[in-house]
Amino acid sequence: MAAQGLTQEQLEAFNCDGFLLLPKELSPERVSALYNETASLLKSFALSDHPLTRFSTEERAHVGDEYFLTSSDKIRYFFEQEAFSESGELLKPKEQAINKIGHALHELNDEFKRDSINDRNRAIAQSIGYKNPLVLQSMVICKQPEIGGKVPGHQDSVFLYTDPPSAIGFWYALEDCTAENGALTFVPGSHKWAPIAKRMVRVDGNKQGTAFIPIKDVPTPREPLDEEYVMPICAAGTLVLIHGNLLHKSEKNFSTKSRYAYTFHMIEGDYKYDALNWLQIPPTTEGGSNFTSLLTS
Ligand code: FE2
Repeated sequence: MAAQGLTQEQLEAFNCDGFLLLPKELSPERVSALYNETASLLKSFALSDHPLTRFSTEERAHVGDEYFLTSSDKIRYFFEQEAFSESGELLKPKEQAINKIGHALHELNDEFKRDSINDRNRAIAQSIGYKNPLVLQSMVICKQPEIGGKVPGHQDSVFLYTDPPSAIGFWYALEDCTAENGALTFVPGSHKWAPIAKRMVRVDGNKQGTAFIPIKDVPTPREPLDEEYVMPICAAGTLVLIHGNLLHKSEKNFSTKSRYAYTFHMIEGDYKYDALNWLQIPPTTEGGSNFTSLLTS
């Protein structure tokens, strides 16, 4: 039987709120498989040749080093900012110090590929209206105990820009998300009033870091009040679909539990994805787009 996409009711809820929770999308077995795969990746990566890249969500911080900018077709490890002392020493075991793993798990790791590039996700994409859905990046977000960093309010299409904007996040909870461990919060409906007014680009198109540039003639959306954010109940195995214009954030993880999640992003391949974007896949010898098509699943 052909995989089903969203029901009419789910589609209406997604279009209204800009996000949609699909509980039990991953079976307990698949949640365990992805959790265990994450644990295995964290255990096996080598510190010896790691540049100790720290991933920062602060706009002015230097996130654009070469390790980050060349990670689109690799599995790489980005540290929590608070994982280091002021003198640069690692304060936690490496397994508890990584903020996220990215950005080609959907291509290079069989466990994550299986839950990304499949008939169900193609059907979901098509039911939302995507003609040529492409998966362009994937990450495990670890949100480590006690140091898992706060992610300020943002819109994903700022970071994964197409013209017109088309990014959608598929976000799978691998552990229960609570107020204590930094669950996601959303401003329902903000995708309808908050345009994409800036985008993250490579500076000079080379390896010298990233910057935000304004989108011509698009007004900056207002900053939502804290009370406009809602925190839906999100148990392990839940898939959350997140519209690329939707304002969302998460607080620091103050608890003693992690908050692992797996996420990948999809764009409409028929829209313009240009060379200014920070995320670029090196061309194949055949040329053409190297993003992974959901149509081939
Ligand atoms: Fe996000």
